[in-house]
Amino acid sequence: MQPDAGTSLKSVKRMPSPKTLPKIGASNFTRDIDLSQDELLALLDLTQQIKSSPSRFSKSLTGRYIALLFEKPSLRTRFTFELAIKQLGGDAVFSTGPIGDREPLQDVARNLDRWTNAIVARTFSQDTIDDLARWSSVPVINALSDRFHPCQALADVFTLQERFGDVRGLKLAFVGDGNNVANSLMLSALRLGMSFSIATPAGYAPDAEIVAQAEALAAVSGARLEIGNDPMNAVTGAQAVYTDVWISMGQEEEYAKRLADFAPYQVNQALLEKAGSDAVFLHCLPAKRGEEVTGEVMESSQSAVFDQAENRLHVQKALLLMLIA
Ligand code: CP
Ligand code: NVA
Repeated sequence: MQPDAGTSLKSVKRMPSPKTLPKIGASNFTRDIDLSQDELLALLDLTQQIKSSPSRFSKSLTGRYIALLFEKPSLRTRFTFELAIKQLGGDAVFSTGPIGDREPLQDVARNLDRWTNAIVARTFSQDTIDDLARWSSVPVINALSDRFHPCQALADVFTLQERFGDVRGLKLAFVGDGNNVANSLMLSALRLGMSFSIATPAGYAPDAEIVAQAEALAAVSGARLEIGNDPMNAVTGAQAVYTDVWISMGQEEEYAKRLADFAPYQVNQALLEKAGSDAVFLHCLPAKRGEEVTGEVMESSQSAVFDQAENRLHVQKALLLMLIA
C-alpha cells in the first residue's frame, strides 16, 4: 500500500500491519483498569499511527458491525464512535433509551451478540455496563457511566502526550467534581506516571474504592496523588488544569445545591495563572461557560479542549482495533 502523503518511510516501517495489531487481554473495556500499563502504551502508540495515516486502517473493520446503546445524550461520543467505525470500514447501529426496561438486559445482550461484533454503551449505572459485559459474548465498551468515562481519559492522556511528549513527571490538576471523568482521568494519568492533584468541595471527592485503586497505580508508577479541597493548591505547579461540569447528566435536580457548593471551584484566568502561562487547559465538554469555566479560559490559547474532542476519534479507533479487528 502507498504511504499517505507526508508519511516518512521510517514511520511506515514502524507501523504494525493491520494484521499484527496489538491486542487487549481483557474481553471488555468497562473501566480504565481493564487495560494494563503496556496495553495503554500500545494503544497510545497505535493511536498516533492511526492519526497520522488513517487510510492505512480504512479496511480494518470491514464486515464488523457494532451496536451503540445510549441511555444519555451525547455529541462527541456518538459521533466519534460512529465515524471511527465507518472510517475503519465497519458500520454501526445506534439506539437510545433505557437498557433493560422493555426486556431483561440479559436478553438484550444475548440478542445483540448474535448480530454484532461489539457493544458500545452509555449508561446511568456502572452495573448496566458490567451486566452487559457479563451476558454478552462480544466485547462491551463503556462510553460513559456514572462511575467512569474511560474513552474520554484515553483521549485526554493522548492529548497530553501530543503536547508534552513524555508525560511522566507532569502534574495534572483537576478542579471540580470527583465524578466519572475525574475517576477515569485519575486512574489513567497515574498509570502513566503523571502526578494527579484533585480539589473538590467537601463531599464531592472521588469514591474511596477508586482512590484505593489509584493509590495502588501511583505506588507502581511512582507518581503522586493529592486529594484535597483547595483549587489554588491543586493547580500550583501543574502543567495541565482540567475541569468538568458541576451538574452531570442525571443530576439536574441537584442544580441549585451544586451551583452553590461548587462556586469557589471555577477555573478562571486567575486560577489558571497559578498554574503558569504554559499550562494547558482541558475539559471533556460539554462546557458550561460561567459555571465550571469562564469563556475567557475556554477561548484562550492555553485551551486544548477541541484537540481532546478530535482525539476521541483516533483513540477509539485504536481501542476498536485492539478489541475486535
Ligand atoms: N465528552 C463527551 O463524552 O461528550 P458527549 O457527552 O457529547 O459524548
Ligand atoms: N460528568 C459529565 C461528563 C459528560 C461528558 C456527565 O456525566 O454528564
